[in-house]
Amino acid sequence: MVSGGGSGGGDAAVEPTSGAAIASDLPAWVRAENVCKRFISPDNAEVHALEDVSLVLSPGEMVSLVGPSGCGKSTLLRLVAGLDAPDAGELWVGSEPIGGPSAERGLVFQDPNLFPWLTVRRNVQAGLVARGVLREQRHEVDEFLKLVGLEAFANSYPHQLSGGMAQRVALARALVNHPKVLLLDEPLGALDAFTRMRMQDEVLRLWRARGTTMLLVTHDIDEAIYMSDRIVIMTPRPGRVERIIEVDLPRPRERNAPEFLAMRARILELLHFAGAAKG
Ligand SMILES: Nc1ncnc2c1ncn2[C@@H]1O[C@H](COP(=O)(O)OP(=O)(O)OP(=O)(O)O)[C@@H](O)[C@H]1O
Ligand SMILES: [Mg+2]
Repeated sequence: MVSGGGSGGGDAAVEPTSGAAIASDLPAWVRAENVCKRFISPDNAEVHALEDVSLVLSPGEMVSLVGPSGCGKSTLLRLVAGLDAPDAGELWVGSEPIGGPSAERGLVFQDPNLFPWLTVRRNVQAGLVARGVLREQRHEVDEFLKLVGLEAFANSYPHQLSGGMAQRVALARALVNHPKVLLLDEPLGALDAFTRMRMQDEVLRLWRARGTTMLLVTHDIDEAIYMSDRIVIMTPRPGRVERIIEVDLPRPRERNAPEFLAMRARILELLHFAGAAKG
């Protein structure tokens, strides 16, 4: 259940990926070892974003990162994405050290960041075009549009979509590259509660179908419990791993089940919101 901070351990319960992953995009381990990251703020102060963060994600595991604003969650995702480098420590995907961005690590932000001048289809295939593999993988664009329920909107432009639809385009755009690892930085944060719950099911469905290793940043404790195999709770800045909670509830999860509510209460307590939760 609750384990101490430090390393994530590789023996956590992992959802069976049931052979869904095909040989070319087998899910991968993600390892962060003793990662530190500092920034210099505009007024020349040193901002200690991450301190000695160690975390291991098993192949095909869904892990959530929660913690106070500014504790380094996005920084950690950017490091795993290879968009930035740590000041100390090491990051690996499988047996490869992370040395820069790669199509095998997809990143989806809170803002879908679609190209407004491109149709939905062209947005989804943008990565394939950039890698020069559109001809070989063009048929997959339609598969992924169907998977996220947007085949009827392939020729629409982003401004003609709802927020949830735009977010699904962003997911399809990341997934069409067959990432071994999908990094999600509050991807559902801007959605209304109803759309958000539907999208959570959608992401879980995609995760099950593809067996992708996923690291999800969220401020929503219910979302973390509903989605994750494990929840990593970070300390206020400098961000460290404070606790790792294994979510050993059967799937699909029932948001009102007593075990679910008990876990939520425990996490809120760990995040020092117990008083607020009790009103
Ligand atoms: N490029 C940067 N230059 C300077 N400081 C940065 C930079 N990126 C992040 N920081 C600082 O690092 C700290 C961690 O930022 P980060 O965005 O990772 O937090 P977060 O946990 O994602 O917060 P939130 O929950 O609000 O999104 C913050 O103090 C932030 O100001
Ligand atoms: Mg952030």
